[in-house]
Amino acid sequence: MHFFTLRSAFSWLLAVAPIVSHCASLQKVTSDFGPNPRNVGFYIYVPDKLAARPPILVNPHWCHGDAKACYSGSQYAALASRYGFIVIYPDSPNTADKCWDVSSNETLTHDAGGDSLGIVSMVRWTLDKYNGDPNRVFVTGISSGAMITSVLLGAYPDVFAAGSAFAGVPYGCFAGNGYGVWSDACATGKVKKTGAEWAALVKAGFPGYTRWRPRVQIFHGTSDEVLNYANFEEEIKEWTTVFGFSETPTSTTPNTPVRGWTKYVYGSNDWLEAYSAAGVSHNIQNQEATAMDWFDLTCVGDGCFKWGKGGPKA
Ligand SMILES: *[C@@H]1O[C@H](CO)[C@@H](O)[C@H](O)[C@H]1NC(C)=O
Repeated sequence: MHFFTLRSAFSWLLAVAPIVSHCASLQKVTSDFGPNPRNVGFYIYVPDKLAARPPILVNPHWCHGDAKACYSGSQYAALASRYGFIVIYPDSPNTADKCWDVSSNETLTHDAGGDSLGIVSMVRWTLDKYNGDPNRVFVTGISSGAMITSVLLGAYPDVFAAGSAFAGVPYGCFAGNGYGVWSDACATGKVKKTGAEWAALVKAGFPGYTRWRPRVQIFHGTSDEVLNYANFEEEIKEWTTVFGFSETPTSTTPNTPVRGWTKYVYGSNDWLEAYSAAGVSHNIQNQEATAMDWFDLTCVGDGCFKWGKGGPKA
């Protein structure tokens, strides 16, 4: 569509010299890209001009959404064109409600199957095909996209460098018997665990893993009517314990990045930050600029993502 608009607008110029020869767009990958037992759909945005070793951002959609809605619903494709990274938009195989599988033992466990393995296979294939930077793989999503973000960070700490979750729940909160099981108890904020219990769940997602863990950024509206705000506190307990941080923030900044939102930082080295959005419902507004900063994705050239190694271990 965009291409044709451009084309007609500049057709008088095109008659002289071809200016617009190629425009990147959302593509569906249909080739075999590795283990994908749940048949998750693979959509990708590869900008015309890539960084030398392009970072990868995974952006899973929300329930009742899909890859195309996610692609057109944020600025990430435009930002990818500006900074030369690749965006992967996975598409849920669950046609009933298009929510992600965040319940099955397979999805919660490293390399065991479920939706998470299909998504990770997309990352591995993309790193290989485009000479991507394995130290700069990130994930962000809203609602069900945030829930699978937590799952990916917990089960694949070796793949992801950082994540940003908007209105989600802790890793393991929906754990249940089977794929795509909805947990009313978790959604309504009734699943409460100690930090140690949450951390034990995360560690069970990848038994024996002792290397560094991805950075975690979370956002939650205090008036969330779909995934209760109590999950914000549970997520903080989960990740502070995994990282060995105190649950008391080391800094608190009001009105950041939006008036009425409060930013809390935990630990000493910017490994965990959480934003409480006063009065905001489940329909929380994406904050691409804040997530881009968190991922250091505006950095181009050498020396990006310097904090990547040597962070907190499991
Ligand atoms: C998956 O199931 C096994 C066997 O019941 C259990 O030991 C493991 O902790 C489970 N993993 C997760 C991440 O819940």
